[in-house]
Amino acid sequence: MTEELPWWREATIYHIYPRSFQDSDGDGVGDLQGIINRLDYLNDGTEHSLGVDAIWLSPIYPSPLKDFGYDVSDFTDVDPTFGDLATFDRLVEEAHRRQVRVLIDFVLNHTSDRHPWFLDSRASATSARRDWYIWRDPAPDGGPPNNWNAVFGGPAWEFDAATGQYYLHSYLPEQPDLNWRNAEVVEAMGDVLRFWMRRGVDGFRLDAVGRIAKHPDLADNPVNPAHVPGGPEPPFLIDHNYLHPDGTEMVRAVRRVLDEFPDRVAVGEVYAPLRELSHFYGAPALDGLHLMFNFQLIRKTPSAPFIPWNASSVAAAILEAEEDLPSGTQACFALANHDVPRFITRHDADGAGEQRARAGTLLLLGLRGTPCLYYGEELGMRDVPVPPGQAVDPVGRDGARTPMPWDGSPGRGFTEASPWLPFGPPAINVAAQRDDPESFLSLVRRAIHMRKGEASLRRGSLHTLRVVDDSVVVFTREATGARPALVALNCASLQREIDVEPRFSRLLLASASGVELVDAGHGARRWRLPALSAAWFVH
Ligand code: NOJ
Ligand code: MG
Repeated sequence: MTEELPWWREATIYHIYPRSFQDSDGDGVGDLQGIINRLDYLNDGTEHSLGVDAIWLSPIYPSPLKDFGYDVSDFTDVDPTFGDLATFDRLVEEAHRRQVRVLIDFVLNHTSDRHPWFLDSRASATSARRDWYIWRDPAPDGGPPNNWNAVFGGPAWEFDAATGQYYLHSYLPEQPDLNWRNAEVVEAMGDVLRFWMRRGVDGFRLDAVGRIAKHPDLADNPVNPAHVPGGPEPPFLIDHNYLHPDGTEMVRAVRRVLDEFPDRVAVGEVYAPLRELSHFYGAPALDGLHLMFNFQLIRKTPSAPFIPWNASSVAAAILEAEEDLPSGTQACFALANHDVPRFITRHDADGAGEQRARAGTLLLLGLRGTPCLYYGEELGMRDVPVPPGQAVDPVGRDGARTPMPWDGSPGRGFTEASPWLPFGPPAINVAAQRDDPESFLSLVRRAIHMRKGEASLRRGSLHTLRVVDDSVVVFTREATGARPALVALNCASLQREIDVEPRFSRLLLASASGVELVDAGHGARRWRLPALSAAWFVH
């Protein structure tokens, strides 16, 4: 008998950046009705569609757009650019009709400085909501209360002349941090979760959850003597505004609210080695977040360099996930998102980024955990150069957020108007790839459906991880009552041969042509893998 797992343990998640998926009202910006119109692409119940099980929408709340929706001015409404609550309800209904769950972003570390809570908090030092944010007197010299820096640069403190105090902002000055040590904040944010769950939302992606607990004393960060401005070393040895252990209790409070409703999921966003974020799962009771993103195939920390595509880095990331996660948990793996350059762009120095991306897809969907795919990656989208006059994001992430190309027409099937960000080359689009069995889209579609049909890949444990010839990562996936699968990823720019157990005698799927059985003798199977390819094998 196979154990019934919660839906999110076996799901494939698709991450939508709503401004860029589909415009339905001719303003050049994607919207909720647009997403509804494209749901059949994501899952129409047949193998013609991608077959994803859930979508996660980046923020759709009213926002002054200083940080493109991550500065929320109302947690319980939809920005008119995207539609309204009635359209949101229809989106949930239409998604559910297609067995697609809906996750939304829960931006819990901060609000917009236009949020009524902050307007009230800043109105006077004695406002009822003063303590909902983090206010401190200036240092004796009149400067910021401590040496913390904002993620987006500059000090993490902004002076408010009217009340003579500074407020803390981990990101932009227009994104004041909420005070999660204040019980009223916890309660109010719990009500936000309830509001959306009553509307049928299946889960939340917890934005910047690693920052909600600050060091209670707001102590100075110890300065790193090795740091040189612009150099690789971080400015601080410890960041007291990141990953404080009190965060575990705070996410438990979030979890208790989710548990008021059946089958909901919380996915945490933190860039850190898994060892440092595993406490968010609430082990051993596992009463914290259900899933944490694993960004170890992207970068180790928010400011670290991108992970190179080689066997030792990839194997280390997988090994870490197996060794450092609390038992009974799994990660949510991602190869791309709206904060980093697209996969191909990160791995294209020699022009072979697309081959790596195709192989990366089979890795992502072959790993133990919940895979999360960023929109457009299934087409091999690259970052689109955005001319300075058109750039809108304060920290340069526009290139990875450009509109989804549905066809090769001037508006790419995305809009009738001029798009809010430029399109990439017309050749990369859904229509051009849909019926081509060799296309990137066809590969991703096949991989998602095969994973669904292969219990070992969907839910199996991961075994015998090894690196062959410094270039091929190999591991097996095994689930009770199901045939095992073997995943092999060749990171080398040359073909490689690997010897595997005879039970892996059949090729299930490959990212490139030319995977061949070269020898079936000697009690092993020897497979040849083309350069930069990946493959799945079964019996
Ligand atoms: C992480 C989000 O993914 C990013 O887009 C945003 O700028 C920061 N958190 C702040 O909310
Ligand atoms: Mg629109």
